[in-house]
Amino acid sequence: MLSDSMARSLNSHLNTEHFSAQLYLSMSSAAGVMGFKGAATWFMVQYQEEMAHFMKFYGYLNSQGVLVRFVAADIPNDYHSLLEMFEKTLTHEQHITKAINHLMDQAVQESDHASQIFLQWFITEQIEEEENDRDIIGKLKLIGDNGYGLLMLDTELGTRVFVPPATTA
Ligand code: FEO
Repeated sequence: MLSDSMARSLNSHLNTEHFSAQLYLSMSSAAGVMGFKGAATWFMVQYQEEMAHFMKFYGYLNSQGVLVRFVAADIPNDYHSLLEMFEKTLTHEQHITKAINHLMDQAVQESDHASQIFLQWFITEQIEEEENDRDIIGKLKLIGDNGYGLLMLDTELGTRVFVPPATTA
């Protein structure tokens, strides 16, 4: 059983994961409009990942008998380059990492073992998310304005495929 406070915190984060999904779907659209079809695919896969994260929270709250509440969000979509999009992606993921850490801190404080087990998957996932973003930012900085380099990277980004998480909570 979750405390009211833990339920509220998890519900709030569920909305953050939903925000993330919409943020990356917007970036997919922006990348496509810029002509980066591969990056559009990459962000579409990121959207699918975020929806899977969101559904994990939804499933966990459901299993704990908590009524899920949604909040509306304003999603920005005003980007000028791939580098800007990936830098904003990394900043956003660092924010998510902090939020997950705070949830874990609360679960530990409340001796809420079930939530600790649930959140462990996300702690590991965030390491990978930030690493992926840093790698792509590094490549984009090396490439600069080189059109051939951007084309090559865009092709590489387009090979990303969505792999559903092995476990669902
Ligand atoms: Fe759901 Fe990208 O963290």
